[in-house]
Amino acid sequence: MKKIPIIIDCDPGVDDSYALALANSYEGFEILAITAVEGNVPAAITRKNALCIREELGINCRVGFGAEKPLKKAYNQFAANTHGQSGVGSFVFDQPEMKPDEMPAWEIIYEEAVKHKGELLLFAVGPLTNIAICLEKHPDLPQLLKKFVIMGGGTFGNVSATNRTAEFNIWIDPHAARQVFEKMDVWMVGLNATHAAAVEMSDFDDMMAICGDNKKARFIRELSAFSKYNCVENGSDNNAIHDALAVASQMDETVVTFENLNVRVEDGDCENIGQTVIDREKEPNCHVAMAVDKAKFAEIMKNMCRYYAEK
Ligand code: BDR
Ligand code: CA
Repeated sequence: MKKIPIIIDCDPGVDDSYALALANSYEGFEILAITAVEGNVPAAITRKNALCIREELGINCRVGFGAEKPLKKAYNQFAANTHGQSGVGSFVFDQPEMKPDEMPAWEIIYEEAVKHKGELLLFAVGPLTNIAICLEKHPDLPQLLKKFVIMGGGTFGNVSATNRTAEFNIWIDPHAARQVFEKMDVWMVGLNATHAAAVEMSDFDDMMAICGDNKKARFIRELSAFSKYNCVENGSDNNAIHDALAVASQMDETVVTFENLNVRVEDGDCENIGQTVIDREKEPNCHVAMAVDKAKFAEIMKNMCRYYAEK
């Protein structure tokens, strides 16, 4: 089976970690690079986590460092409440042995896109700063890709200054997101999809049981324990593993159903800055995840645990 070359641009991040682990466990993908952007936690931590996750999971790929700040916004609001201060829940990484690539994230993405012309599947599951910079420097990026899939946006939000119309990844860098949505053919796996596919507490129990005390699966077991803890903390029976759903959507096309719709990112200085505004009256310009197979996604997550437990 010919593997699809992929790059995951991310801000690890608990669910980013699941996404990386899931992609690595899938025989149909070859991870060429992990590129880090500031987002859930400060850039210094997403960078360290990208290197450490690569080592922990034994992924043979480049790791590139990307943007340290959004394009224009003077500040970031981190999500350590959801991801822990370390960004990876309660897991503690030692210092990584591996050094990052000498090229910045956006040059790695472009170089691999040129090298694998028309074959590269690019995921972006953090703020879109690195992708916007890549587009600015290399406007032909969109034509070089096989597909561009993001976790971000959706029909409702989870953050913003005064209301919850924006989703975190888009809200952190709405100016970057606006450019990306205008210039690229985006497959958007947003909050409406990730919440509909939220993993049940009992599934996290199953995931921990599958991982057992296998050393290779210790990271996934800790992530699952943290996700279960998040359920309890939030008084909920389930927890959305946002970024992993974006990856799963490309492993099995029956997991997520996309609809072609018109999406515009609000980047004005207004209350709903960061919102992905969907307009059904306008010409479609985006593939929007609208339905999910929740049970199938949970099974995919458990199969990932089996992969690491049996390694
Ligand atoms: C998105 O924001 C981050 O906190 C997660 O990693 C995910 O990419 C969900 O809104
Ligand atoms: Ca993320």
